[in-house]
Amino acid sequence: MVHDTQHVNSGDEIGGNGLPGSARELLEKTTLIIASNRGPLEFHIEEDGSYSTKRGSGGVVTAVSAVSRYNDLIWVASAMTDGDRARAREADEAGEVIISPPDSDIRLRFVLADEDAYDGYYNRISNPLLWFLQHYLWDTPRSPDIDKETWRAWRDGYVTVNRQFAEEIVAAARASKRKPLVMLQDYHLYLTPGIIREMMPDVTLQHFIHIPWPDPDYWQLLPREMRSAICDSMLANDIVGFQTSSHARSFMNTCDFNLDGVDLDYRHREIHYRGRTTKVAVYPISIDCDAVEAVAASEDALRHEEHLNAFVNEFTIVRVDRAEPSKNIVRGFLAYDRFLEKFPEFIGRVNFLAFLVPSRLEVLEYVDYLDDINTVVGRINTKYANAAEQDGVAWQPISLFIGDDYPRALAALKRYDVLLVNAIFDGMNLVAKEGALLNQQDGVIILSEAAGAYQQLGPHSLTVSSTDIESTAEAIHTALTMNPDKRAAWSSELRELVRTQNIRAWIYAQIDDLAKLTTATREYR
Ligand code: G6P
Repeated sequence: MVHDTQHVNSGDEIGGNGLPGSARELLEKTTLIIASNRGPLEFHIEEDGSYSTKRGSGGVVTAVSAVSRYNDLIWVASAMTDGDRARAREADEAGEVIISPPDSDIRLRFVLADEDAYDGYYNRISNPLLWFLQHYLWDTPRSPDIDKETWRAWRDGYVTVNRQFAEEIVAAARASKRKPLVMLQDYHLYLTPGIIREMMPDVTLQHFIHIPWPDPDYWQLLPREMRSAICDSMLANDIVGFQTSSHARSFMNTCDFNLDGVDLDYRHREIHYRGRTTKVAVYPISIDCDAVEAVAASEDALRHEEHLNAFVNEFTIVRVDRAEPSKNIVRGFLAYDRFLEKFPEFIGRVNFLAFLVPSRLEVLEYVDYLDDINTVVGRINTKYANAAEQDGVAWQPISLFIGDDYPRALAALKRYDVLLVNAIFDGMNLVAKEGALLNQQDGVIILSEAAGAYQQLGPHSLTVSSTDIESTAEAIHTALTMNPDKRAAWSSELRELVRTQNIRAWIYAQIDDLAKLTTATREYR
């Protein structure tokens, strides 16, 4: 459980019961501007030249929809698809300030970056550099190399696109008749708050960081100019939110380490800098339980569930992840191999089903990691090729399901005896929460202590250190031989916890804190 008894509320104190009155009042008086790199929907161009849209399934979209009925909401996002770019250009030419897609309540403004700038911002700085830094993914004697190209990507890509975001947000704010409340999302936009603050000194700015925030020492692997610019800009926010209290504390220390004139107030979780105060808060993100359950009960998911009958065994281990180095997929398979070596009585009786979604294939490390996964799976399957039979054919210890198929992944989560979530570092890990909600076999979650979800789910899961292959193998054995009463008790505790700490609680807590802040400063009276 995350405890946050500071002035600013944490998500778990609020519960999922409803939007507090003051927060609702704030929403009714303001325009909420949400900004994130990936938008809530994508435009695609059809053969006849018309546009179709596809709505994203991410938690933030659901959370925001929950408050949109009280508010005049605008979403600012990068134009990422050809359809987005064409629609954004069309809007520019027509002088359309806000795009209102048909059949949708979402109102949008696109940031249309030039291709080179976007590549630097997304494929060189945000993903390989900031994402790798914040998940402690570097093999430091070899990476990163901050070279001429990195600096170019920083100056002409990250800085440029962050400035464009700020300009679009300010344009949206100025076009609105109500007071703007800006909620920025994630590591793509670290420089945006500073630029907005210069352009609109009185605006209310909040920034939520979905991924871990490492300690100041590790940030030293990033050049001083970059890390100081990030900290300086982040302190232009009124509130900065994190998934866990340890990320929040690291952020405070990182600002102190990198900037002159910072005054930390740990008791109230506040940072004073250049005459302003930034509150640092904890809002553990969650899932939309109703939506997840609806997809899991859909015909599509039920069809997949039936198909999965051919793959499950007396014992079934499942993992669901983006094919992403921070998820620690390779070590998970090594631990499974070690488990089979150590406990050969399980050979032929257990299957490991891994559902992996390819991700960020423009970044070399992700392509290499996918190769590493295929290699280790091939090696383990070959090693046990003649070890046992299942239904009259050679037993295959690991089945890889590659592709983005959400109903299939949810179908699998219903069926696990063990869910392996052994991330190296993870902001939250929503798969653990989806599994806890959906599993129908009193399955056990093996959870990395460095996943944000550990703060809430840890007491009812088996905990592992992400690099410890030997103990992870033991944990698989412990899970598969656990007393059924204990499995049932843990499962029901986890399900209850996820149901009460849902995604609405996450956004409500943030709006409530913004309402307290704006009331305190009498800004919105
Ligand atoms: C993960 C992280 C988010 C992040 C997103 C970006 O889901 O948890 O914090 O914003 O990746 O993914 P993308 O596919 O847009 O690069």
